Amino acid sequence: MQSLISEAVAILKAGGLVAMPTETVYGLAADASNLEAVRKIFKAKQRPMDHPLIVHLADPTQLKDWVSFVSPMAEQLAKAFWPGPLTLILPKAPHVLDLVTGKQQTIGIRIPSHPVAQALLQAFGGGLAAPSANRFGRISPTTAAAVREELGDAVDFILEGGACEIGLESTIVDVTGKHPVILRPGMITAKQIETVLQEPLSKHSGYHAPRVSGSLESHYAPVTKTQLLNSEEINDLVKSINEADLPIALLMRTPIVTHNKNIIYIKMPSDAKSYAHELYQTLRNLDHQQLKRIVIEEVPETDEWTAILDRLVKASFSERKKKR
Ligand code: TXA
Ligand code: MG
Repeated sequence: MQSLISEAVAILKAGGLVAMPTETVYGLAADASNLEAVRKIFKAKQRPMDHPLIVHLADPTQLKDWVSFVSPMAEQLAKAFWPGPLTLILPKAPHVLDLVTGKQQTIGIRIPSHPVAQALLQAFGGGLAAPSANRFGRISPTTAAAVREELGDAVDFILEGGACEIGLESTIVDVTGKHPVILRPGMITAKQIETVLQEPLSKHSGYHAPRVSGSLESHYAPVTKTQLLNSEEINDLVKSINEADLPIALLMRTPIVTHNKNIIYIKMPSDAKSYAHELYQTLRNLDHQQLKRIVIEEVPETDEWTAILDRLVKASFSERKKKR
């Protein structure tokens, strides 16, 4: 592993792109202080140039190089959840590249816990700008093979780190204001954050909030048409669907009876953690199967399912628009 890390560091120092595993999803990393390298990220992902990137660090002692101020609230969250699946939006240090921050006065910072990401960051020594390693608007990759499928030759080197344990992107919390705001829900939940801070969170103020591509209405979407329905609606659909509208896949936590072999039933886990871990890879596999559509059963609206529901609503956005 050490020689692979050294190879990856050499590529990063030379301004190249390295895909790195993290505990959430794979990231497409570049030296955050090298403008040309950061430009390559946008090109590889076909990402709009004004969408800011998260800077990944090995440990909190490096914060001073990237951030101008760490409030007590930020410190509490960092202490509770780093290294781990939390991104904090903080006031940026003066020298940080505009391309990294989308010309904002703030910067997104994350300290990942994945051992390969940690080894890479420690050996590299600086900050790594790394969005999820997918083409813009698509599902984040949770395996090295998925990165290859998304980005092919656009990435110089892929570090293998197995399947990502969490499987959904980090929770993003803006701690630049008086009160914390969740900009993107993740598997660190609102309740967990409230427990640490001992104060209720303001609700995400939607499209007026700082630019977060994850807050676009359609994002994280399979190529196949995707619909979010409740189990009753799915039962009705299965009874009345025409052969011409098949094959379809049903992603459900509850059972359903059908003998039609063109209706592919996929049993999803009933606990949120396992569901999150499997979701993106399941959707990615189904995207290869030339289905007419993917139908996903709604999930609970409770705290631990919030991030999953958020991704499902975004994945099914274009079909919901048509239904209305
Ligand atoms: O789990 C994750 O966060 C993964 C892994 C690789 O760390 N990264 C990830 O990056 O999901 P990306 O770029 O796909 O999503 C990061 C989100 C984007 O929606 C971006 O707009 C937002 O973070 N973001 C970054 N810096 C920001 C800032 N200064 N203010 C507001 N939003 C910011
Ligand atoms: Mg992304």
